[in-house]
Amino acid sequence: MTLIGPSLMCADMGILRETVTKLDQAGVDFFHLDVMDGSFVPNFTMGPDMIKNVRPYTNKPFDVHLMVQNPEKHLDTFIEAGADMISVHTEATEHLQRTLQKIRNKGLKAGVALNPATPIDELKYVLDVVDYITVMTVNPGFAGQKFIPLMYKKISDLKHLLEKERYNIAIQVDGNIGYQTIPGVLENGASMLVCGTSSLFKPEITFEEAVIKLKSFITSQEKEKFKKD
Ligand code: DX5
Ligand code: ZN
Repeated sequence: MTLIGPSLMCADMGILRETVTKLDQAGVDFFHLDVMDGSFVPNFTMGPDMIKNVRPYTNKPFDVHLMVQNPEKHLDTFIEAGADMISVHTEATEHLQRTLQKIRNKGLKAGVALNPATPIDELKYVLDVVDYITVMTVNPGFAGQKFIPLMYKKISDLKHLLEKERYNIAIQVDGNIGYQTIPGVLENGASMLVCGTSSLFKPEITFEEAVIKLKSFITSQEKEKFKKD
């Protein structure tokens, strides 16, 4: 089953509580919260207080994507803020295995994120402490960018690696995931979609309409894939 998670960096920060409530009621599966430090990526977004602020407005999982240097220094801060899942970038820490292990030991789902140029081989010796893998399909930092076409092959290569190593780990895709790119990412093995301005945050329609439209599109694509398999 394909899961959709709105990327809250795309929301109007002035009405974040209302937005989370509406998206929850519209039926999203998780919330993706991008945290940026202006160093690992050239942008800043939300911090722990903003996450804490919206935590009471949904019971859906908070997937915190730490696009920060040395994420191991900040795990407790975001766990305390209400994260259920935390992904860290392999490029941002000297101690990936220990960091993932700590996330798991705290009872959260551990994710590892890869920038577009980072080979999937980086993951080979941490697959036993990973619950989901985020393939960045744009260069991290900003909404509204264009999907990097080679990422379709990267998703497929990752799927094959996981099958070969016999790990049942979800592949999450983050960046320009919309009606043009969803068929390809599903076809190649993604099952968690981070949805921002390319699919859910559309000023011309309500969140309810956007979620209904997106979910029915995904169902139709899943049926297509099922027929081909
Ligand atoms: C990249 C951001 C964006 C955002 C999704 O760092 O993570 O990808 O979530 O927004 P769109 O759909 O505009 O790429
Ligand atoms: Zn993200």
